[in-house]
Amino acid sequence: MEPDSSFTSVMALTLERQKNIPEQYVLPPLQRPNMSLTDHIPTSLPLIDLSMINHPAHRSQVIDEVHAACKQLGFFQVINHGIPTSVLKDALDSAEEFFNLPSEEKMCFASADVHEPVRYGTSMNHGKDKVFYWRDFLKLYANPISEWIHLWPSNPPSYREKMGSYADAMHTLQKRLMEVVLESLGLNANYLHEDIDEGSQVLAVNCYPSCPEPDLALGMPPHTDYGTLTILNQSHQGLEIMDHDKKWHSVPFIEGALIVQLGDQSEVMSNGRYKGTPHRAILNTQKKRLSIASLHSLAIEKKIGPAPELVDEQHPVAYKEGSFAEFLDCIALNSVSDVKYIDTLRIH
Ligand code: OGA
Ligand code: NI
Repeated sequence: MEPDSSFTSVMALTLERQKNIPEQYVLPPLQRPNMSLTDHIPTSLPLIDLSMINHPAHRSQVIDEVHAACKQLGFFQVINHGIPTSVLKDALDSAEEFFNLPSEEKMCFASADVHEPVRYGTSMNHGKDKVFYWRDFLKLYANPISEWIHLWPSNPPSYREKMGSYADAMHTLQKRLMEVVLESLGLNANYLHEDIDEGSQVLAVNCYPSCPEPDLALGMPPHTDYGTLTILNQSHQGLEIMDHDKKWHSVPFIEGALIVQLGDQSEVMSNGRYKGTPHRAILNTQKKRLSIASLHSLAIEKKIGPAPELVDEQHPVAYKEGSFAEFLDCIALNSVSDVKYIDTLRIH
């Protein structure tokens, strides 16, 4: 029997204009976003100017900044990244237009199978989630783009063109950023060069409608991304990251900036020198929020382990090899709140 792929999207739910959120979305008290007194600390988070990256005299400064940011939080924002504002805006506008389509049209892309290269859904994995998250999404495989783009939505009519340009720009930026991240670990900038170029890219296009009770629910639960790094473009503020003391920091919205976060594959590759950044999405009563996360990893079946240069007597191998495919098998069976894939790779 086919698994059930039908669901009620949050977009459909919000058309009912209820004052309260359905029970299914109400988190247990300890998981709610406002429970801890230390939540939402306003801090200055690292902002890195990439315009200096190709200047031999300044590149090492960028690498130092990236090293400090990756060590502390596994997170930074980048400006002067070279991607035109129109590409970023067009992608978010296309995302919004897609989520505004009638349900029947979006449901053509719905699937309960997390392995589908194009998948419309709600919450995280609505078949497994015990509590639902206030989020609709469309996931799109993107690299190499010629292999996947014909599967993407053809409505709105400019969707493929605009999201395609965006995906290309993210893939190029990701390669430049990985070189810097590798150098910041003392590795050769060309380490895993081809694997990174031929790696998998998934665009997670997220829609978080305004929520009447944002204190009781989340758009996305705390998680780390599975890949090497994620580049996030957002229409409004709403992302929070967790520091080593388990305190949440809201990420300020900076016009034109892109958010970069390390994922599990970077943690494994760096043998734990860097950690994947735990993050979550919070909600608000005022405005629908759109975000596009470009999730990069090695090719789906390709395994990644600690870089041999980062293993020595003081730093024994701390992780087993893992792959994107194994991560998918993990989330197909478990709810993200129960099992964290990175924990299955740690060697104690
Ligand atoms: C993701 C993610 C956060 C956001 O798609 O993995 O963490 O702010 N998104 O939408
Ligand atoms: Ni994420």
